[in-house]
Amino acid sequence: MKFDTPATTNPIDRLTVVGQPVDRIDGRYKTTGTAHYAYERHDAAPDAAYGHVVGAAIAKGRIASMDLTAAKAAPGVLAIVTAETAGKLGKGEYNTATLLGGPEIEHYHQAVALVVAEGFEQARDAAALVKIEYAPTKGAYDLAAARDLAKPSGKDDEPADSRVGDFDAAFAATAVQVDATYTTPDQSHAMMEPHATVAAWQGDRLSLWTSNQMVAWSVGDVAKTLGIAKDKVHLMSPYVGGGFGGKLWVRADALLAALGARAARRPVKVALHRPLMFNNTTHRPATIQRIRLGANTDGALLAIGHDSWSGDLPGGKPETAIMQTRLLYAGANRLTRQRLAELDLPEGNSMRAPGEAPGMMALEIAMDEMAGKLGLDPVEFRIRNDTQVDPEHPGRKFSQRQLTECLRIGAERFGWARRKARPGEVRDGRWLVGLGMAAAYRGAPVVKSAARVRLDAKGIVTVETDMTDIGTGSYTIIAQTAAEMMGVPLHRVVVRLADSNFPVSAGSGGQFGANSATAGVYAACVKLRDAVTGKLGLNAAAAEFADGKVRSGDRSIALVEAARDGELAAEDTIEFGGLDKKYQLSTFGGHFVEVGVDAATAEVRLRRMLAVCAAGRILNPKSARSQVIGAMTMGAGAALMEELAVDTRHGFFVNHDLAAYEVPVHADIPHQEVIFLDETDPLSSPMKAKGVGELGICGAAAAIANAIHNATGVRVRDYPITLDKLL
Ligand code: MOS
Repeated sequence: MKFDTPATTNPIDRLTVVGQPVDRIDGRYKTTGTAHYAYERHDAAPDAAYGHVVGAAIAKGRIASMDLTAAKAAPGVLAIVTAETAGKLGKGEYNTATLLGGPEIEHYHQAVALVVAEGFEQARDAAALVKIEYAPTKGAYDLAAARDLAKPSGKDDEPADSRVGDFDAAFAATAVQVDATYTTPDQSHAMMEPHATVAAWQGDRLSLWTSNQMVAWSVGDVAKTLGIAKDKVHLMSPYVGGGFGGKLWVRADALLAALGARAARRPVKVALHRPLMFNNTTHRPATIQRIRLGANTDGALLAIGHDSWSGDLPGGKPETAIMQTRLLYAGANRLTRQRLAELDLPEGNSMRAPGEAPGMMALEIAMDEMAGKLGLDPVEFRIRNDTQVDPEHPGRKFSQRQLTECLRIGAERFGWARRKARPGEVRDGRWLVGLGMAAAYRGAPVVKSAARVRLDAKGIVTVETDMTDIGTGSYTIIAQTAAEMMGVPLHRVVVRLADSNFPVSAGSGGQFGANSATAGVYAACVKLRDAVTGKLGLNAAAAEFADGKVRSGDRSIALVEAARDGELAAEDTIEFGGLDKKYQLSTFGGHFVEVGVDAATAEVRLRRMLAVCAAGRILNPKSARSQVIGAMTMGAGAALMEELAVDTRHGFFVNHDLAAYEVPVHADIPHQEVIFLDETDPLSSPMKAKGVGELGICGAAAAIANAIHNATGVRVRDYPITLDKLL
């Protein structure tokens, strides 16, 4: 089905199942330990041996020599895989460094060997006996030092530079200016479930039970790396314990499990142990961002400038922190520039709302600073600079944009009017209390997505698609979609996900999954409805599917009759094109935060958080709310604690475990409230939905930073805002 005209009325609009806050159908399995994660697939490979990954101990250079004698002789060892023994390997599309390093080392903890043994402890012990001599070379590890060498970096649809009007002249001429530099640190996804894979070969066919967000991408990359055909790779990822972008691609666990299984001639399971995760896998790159805003005394922005620097390995990509600045506020003169420096740190890549999450951390402090200089309320200042068109391409409208509504409703609900404009004025015992806010913005892209739907003789509707559920609720919203379309109760729908034998979906990324994947299920259901009416001899155009029946004219037939003498199946793909180019599809919101800062110790405590979101139709308010509060929580981490500490001499992230890389715990998180505007977007898909999983993090950290400023008068521009920066 091609989606190239605005959606009209369709069966989803009934909202008898879609739009209801039903519990996640995988929730019970996840909370009772019966959802089997990749590493737990004992059923699939009961005789699996254990692989332990050895990571490089230098950041850049060569392996001079590797002595495996002692490791090979260790008890239980079955095989050792290294670049030397692995045979010729190709390189996947989605990784910058090779997944199995050697003799060249591209980054610290790059995998250089896999030791396979009968038992886990045996593999780990033997791995410690692998003796490696390195010949290190000098690398670049410091973004601030490499900044001057950074080069423009962009792509066709996201060019490195954008200019509208004459920024320099306009900025110089404005009455009120902000010119400030902000930094965001390297961050780690730090999801609960580490990267893990069980691999098994049957002849030349490879089965991988792994933890992954994008099944089809990963099949392609595994095939490319191993030099085998894609149809020889069967990849399954039915339950994922968090991804946040770190599992958009296969990592060393998947490749090395496959190589280890080949070498040991039996299934092998590999988990990247926690200390490897931080340097072996990807991370969100640090940024340096200079923002220049120029406004007239009425608070109209006349000049908006945003420069961002980030680093990555040679051949890598920039953190696209300027992207929201091209779209968020009106202003006639604009300049955005994106620069990329070569660094030899571990590979940077997508982490929840790549680009906008760190971009909004900077932009929305700058907006607060400007509001302060203007003596304008920060909510009012943003509303004055709202735009209903893409400010760089004024012919192009947003499909929907209710930023102003989000901000007004948020201000009202949060009691924003009680905020004192002058910082440091509110005290509650030992706490200095402040209120802060920020806009939220995240693009809402759409991606082609396919599904197969079957109706069997028992009246059960089964959906199959390679879509993943990374803790987001995909199983549930897909079941809701099929139930609504076929007119059956939710418990009559079975959803099977994340198997490369199923039709290729959008996958989970870029907050495109919910809208795109359910739209693919919608398309397949439209076809199945046609098959049903055809079979029953009913007029398809007039048919209504409800209560387990198909009604058309004065006839009403049980749905199951259509499959009486054989299952009916239909498969289709939703293809986008046109509308998402003609219109800017985005999600909007407002974040409001109250903090307390200890007047003596500068300890920061979040007291209340509110997010108001405009994100199209909300397919399931319960799972959507969970997505937003999870993202707000991650925003709290970004604001207050998360930072990979870079050793700029040796080139690695020092704090590579969850004791030293701090993420929020329950005690850090206050009352959180989420309000969704009642919005449907007929330009986004037949579902009229968008995504929320990444919107909730965008702006959240800046709202906290702004609340801290309001509490204390201290403006911190370098995240995270730890207490040493406030004293
Ligand atoms: Mo998201 S960072 O595209 O998984």
